[in-house]
Amino acid sequence: MTLISELINSGSKVLRKNLISSHQLDSELILSKILKKSRENLLISLDQKVSDENSFEFNLLINRRIKKEPIAYIFKEKEFWNRKFLVNYDTLIPRPETELLVEKTLEYFKNKKPHVLDVGTGSGCILLSILEENKESKGIGIDISYKAIRMAQKNSKNFDLDGRAKFYNRCIDQIYGYKFDLVISNPPYITSNEMRNLSEDIKVYEPKIALDGGNDGLDVIKKVIYKSKSILKKKGMLALEIGNGQYRKVLRILKLNNFREKFLIKDYQENVRCIVSVLER
Ligand SMILES: C[S@@+](CC[C@H](N)C(=O)[O-])C[C@H]1O[C@@H](n2cnc3c(N)ncnc32)[C@H](O)[C@@H]1O
Repeated sequence: MTLISELINSGSKVLRKNLISSHQLDSELILSKILKKSRENLLISLDQKVSDENSFEFNLLINRRIKKEPIAYIFKEKEFWNRKFLVNYDTLIPRPETELLVEKTLEYFKNKKPHVLDVGTGSGCILLSILEENKESKGIGIDISYKAIRMAQKNSKNFDLDGRAKFYNRCIDQIYGYKFDLVISNPPYITSNEMRNLSEDIKVYEPKIALDGGNDGLDVIKKVIYKSKSILKKKGMLALEIGNGQYRKVLRILKLNNFREKFLIKDYQENVRCIVSVLER
């Protein structure tokens, strides 16, 4: 038997040796998860004993973290918009910037009932968060990854949203016969060059198809803009997350396709990270 404090310290020490900057936090989170205690609860029980079985499991998970595996994949879940979404190696780990996109879009559609298309839905985090808040809206999530769609469907079921959310394994090019009030997307937007320089936790573990936006990072963004012209209702809204430094290029493509910028969303470092525009006809 080992004490909670001893395990936290040994885990943190080995993670630090392996250059994991969040070593202390990760060690605490991993042990909280195994003992099914909140982190706060763990930290007031430092002199409690941990069974050999739990210590063994702790060391297994610490070894995965040593190999730079993100905590979200180790735990198979990630908190987004105050809800726990199931994730796996087939889905991008939802990011805080994307919560900003959800927040501002919800504000815009307050007291309205938008029909929503989420392009590149991954875990379903964008669409399901919008539907959770806006109880009158319905929507479709599409993704070219069949396995991501399976995960989005599981999340939808867990949140009891499968009556209002549908998920299809489709490319954006394959959407016909619908009209939406809102097309929203966090598409892959990293340039092929930048892909080579990503940190190891992203490069090794997150799906390449969710990140790689081609030579200029805009391959999927362009497809979403072109397609949105025919599937948005009049004055419909296109809300796009973009990469840092892509604002001017994307704005030009939007203007060429009859979209007018409505508002921008900046990240916590003041970079423009989302462009929200409306279709003018
Ligand atoms: C950056 S991830 C976003 C996932 C999720 N929406 C989020 O914000 O966490 C991009 C997603 O787009 C999907 N994707 C890539 N190209 C696509 C395309 N042409 N049509 C539909 N989905 C695509 C990928 O499989 C991936 O799940």
